[in-house]
Amino acid sequence: MMFELNTQRSLWDHALVTLAEKDCEPEPDLAAFLRQGPAKIGGHGLDIGCGLGRHTLATLRMGYEMTAVDFSEVAVQRTRELVQSKGFNADVRCASMHNLPFNDGQFDFAFSWCVLNHGTRKIFEQAISEAIRVLCSGGVIFGFVMSQHDSRFGSGRRVGEDCFAFTEGPESGICHYFPSERNLVNLLERFSVIERLKEVFFDGSENAFYHPEMSRSCHFEFIARKH
Ligand SMILES: C[S@@+](CC[C@H](N)C(=O)[O-])C[C@H]1O[C@@H](n2cnc3c(N)ncnc32)[C@H](O)[C@@H]1O
Repeated sequence: MMFELNTQRSLWDHALVTLAEKDCEPEPDLAAFLRQGPAKIGGHGLDIGCGLGRHTLATLRMGYEMTAVDFSEVAVQRTRELVQSKGFNADVRCASMHNLPFNDGQFDFAFSWCVLNHGTRKIFEQAISEAIRVLCSGGVIFGFVMSQHDSRFGSGRRVGEDCFAFTEGPESGICHYFPSERNLVNLLERFSVIERLKEVFFDGSENAFYHPEMSRSCHFEFIARKH
């Protein structure tokens, strides 16, 4: 199986329509990162792979300016509607994370929940490098990406090195790259100082993307500060 961005985009359009009514609460660990103040209130944040917009909205509610990107038109539309329905404004754009339409150093902070690993190793590396490129010097990024300790590592159809397309559940057909810790650390350390890196076992039962296999899901959570 080949990795094709357009096919992946269509699969996400479909998954997001199916799941659109669920799960508007922010993830607790990401909410905690935001509460700690990644930038001065009024600072500019970027949500990479905003999905239905729950984290963009939560960040706006805390008083930050927000830009959000997703490569799915469904996601972009839903996020715009959610933000506007709650009386906020955000710049929500359709773009792929591996080629962000922003200037270097434009954002004070960025975050990405369960997105950066959706692709091949090459897309993952480009997405991390892009996320850090658009941060100002000293800006922070919070990321949540899959780990090779996840029970789904190695299952489904192999698409490339450490990359598999699931064959069941709501993310069937969608590619997942599972970085090793060494790969992730090497990549982040090229551009930033790692302030937190931990593996978390995720009880996804309340999550919109829940599938029984997720009961043994494992992710890396990281915070890194740009040099
Ligand atoms: C599991 S959902 C997470 C959504 C959101 N971050 C959240 O936590 O609610 C993954 C999202 O990543 C988006 N995505 C996948 N690959 C992408 C890419 N190459 N560029 C931008 N967004 C992408 C999908 O469209 C989807 O909205």
